[in-house]
Amino acid sequence: MTPSVRILGIETSCDETAAAVVEDGRILRSNVVASQEQLHARYGGIVPELASRQHIRLILPVIDEALRRAGVDWAGISAIAVTFGPGLAGSLLVGLNAAKALAFARGLPLVGINHLEGHVYANWVEVDGSPEPQLPLLCLIVSGAHSDLTLMVDHGKFRRIGRTRDDAAGEAFDKVARLLGLGFPGGPAIQRAAERGNPEAYPLPRAELKDSWDFSFSGLKTATLRLVERLRRDGPLTEQQVADIAASFQEAVVDMLVAKTVAAARAFGVPQVALAGGVAANRRLRERLRAECPVPVVYPPPFLCTDNGAMIAAAGYFRFRAGDRAGFDLDVVSNLKLE
Ligand code: KG4
Ligand code: ZN
Repeated sequence: MTPSVRILGIETSCDETAAAVVEDGRILRSNVVASQEQLHARYGGIVPELASRQHIRLILPVIDEALRRAGVDWAGISAIAVTFGPGLAGSLLVGLNAAKALAFARGLPLVGINHLEGHVYANWVEVDGSPEPQLPLLCLIVSGAHSDLTLMVDHGKFRRIGRTRDDAAGEAFDKVARLLGLGFPGGPAIQRAAERGNPEAYPLPRAELKDSWDFSFSGLKTATLRLVERLRRDGPLTEQQVADIAASFQEAVVDMLVAKTVAAARAFGVPQVALAGGVAANRRLRERLRAECPVPVVYPPPFLCTDNGAMIAAAGYFRFRAGDRAGFDLDVVSNLKLE
């Protein structure tokens, strides 16, 4: 029997300090995420300078805790995988430098991971006996900064077919939540408010962008802003109005994401579709895509949709197996693409 390959995954691209141990690309041994949500909530968004300082405070304790919970010591780790982009440069630097220092000190191989590729690999982490996704896979990667439709042709081989032309889906959720006074991060807050609302209460626009796999959310965001301004002329929004706006907005985003993804699944004849990124945690999106897609749809459990180290470790396993190694000159790439 071949010995298990255990990868330590490190993720600090945005506002979560995260580390995890994953065995053979699929078995979750530990997953530690220190969220900075509360630190940034009072500013209504992420403050980059505060994020990097907090990463510096938390990175070593988070890594120690990930090893402790996995019940392994350094001798039991085969390689270190770390996010080197895309993301906030100051945040990425903390995780990357910690990974480099530990790899050097422990004599371990280092593997650099694209954060978006990591999100896709969250689908490989086994939960309740979930099977491995089938390739080629059509991936809808929707996060705070990205809304990409990407074909995963093989391990480590991606071809982006569509992207957002303006705001990312998560960014739109965050901005509308802020507009409605629902707090940060906006996605979960909109989802919660929407549960009590009527998705047909207010007609909001859907950008079609014919003959393209691209998305656009800025028109919807502006229309929602105008709607709120108009309603507020008659006084503060009632709780029901907030719920109705949240539901109508969420439905419009989900309509656009589902329409393009279903059409692309047909056009490219893929055997499966995968959801990835923070917005993949959205319940309505998950339900509607599964109901309307002609092929099976896979998605990670919500705790693996938002940023975490397990997805980086899972992606790291497949790159490590393919012989991919990073040098100590690996630098962060803020605007790294997956294409
Ligand atoms: O992937 P992620 O954790 O970080 C980035 O790589 O950006 O995604 C964060 C984004 C935020 O915009 C957040 O509002 C959104 O994911 N999000 C959601 C939900 N949970 C998180 N959006 C809609 N519904 C949710 N349940
Ligand atoms: Zn992310």
